[in-house]
Amino acid sequence: MVLEILKYPDPRLREKSQTVTEFGPDVEKFAKDLIETMYAESGIGLAAPQVGKLWNMLVIDCRPKENGRYSIEDMTELEQEIDQPLVIINPKIVAHKGKTTFDEGCLSVPSFFETVERHDYIELEYQDVKGNKKILKTDGLLAIVIQHEMDHLDGTLFIDRISFVKSNKIKNQIKKGGYPEKKRREAELVEVDAPKAEKKADKKRSRE
Ligand code: CO
Repeated sequence: MVLEILKYPDPRLREKSQTVTEFGPDVEKFAKDLIETMYAESGIGLAAPQVGKLWNMLVIDCRPKENGRYSIEDMTELEQEIDQPLVIINPKIVAHKGKTTFDEGCLSVPSFFETVERHDYIELEYQDVKGNKKILKTDGLLAIVIQHEMDHLDGTLFIDRISFVKSNKIKNQIKKGGYPEKKRREAELVEVDAPKAEKKADKKRSRE
């Protein structure tokens, strides 16, 4: 089932998520729905609070796609060893090294992209969908997406991690004018053909 994704400035995106303590069919069904929603929106990651569920849980599939901006050659050796889609529950970063930057986007802040600094390499303790304890060591895009999604569990968005001036500019723009994408969709209802070229260009950017 595809779920509705909350958009900034929805206050529910600012809540802190809770540890998942009971595993079973409810968690498994929700994980399935999260993955389905992520794929439906062409996202590369999605966290539970983005659909209004305050669970420490996220899903990721950031493997390279055809015509995507991330190609198979960009995948690091560590990334290639990890099976995706990933369901990550109760994650905790236990070690990290280095710094990296990436032009991030977010399904809860559609059509905005900004460069964010993250740890380059992370070691993560988490539980899988059955509650089994796991350790994951990665870098590359996967490490970046994990950190972006973990921020959601704390009520933090990528637009909080950029300069104060840029952050305020984007937040005010959204609060006053909404999202450009929404306006475009409304325009599409009137002019069916016109916005296609623009839409294509958008697809090259990955949204988390
Ligand atoms: Co996001």
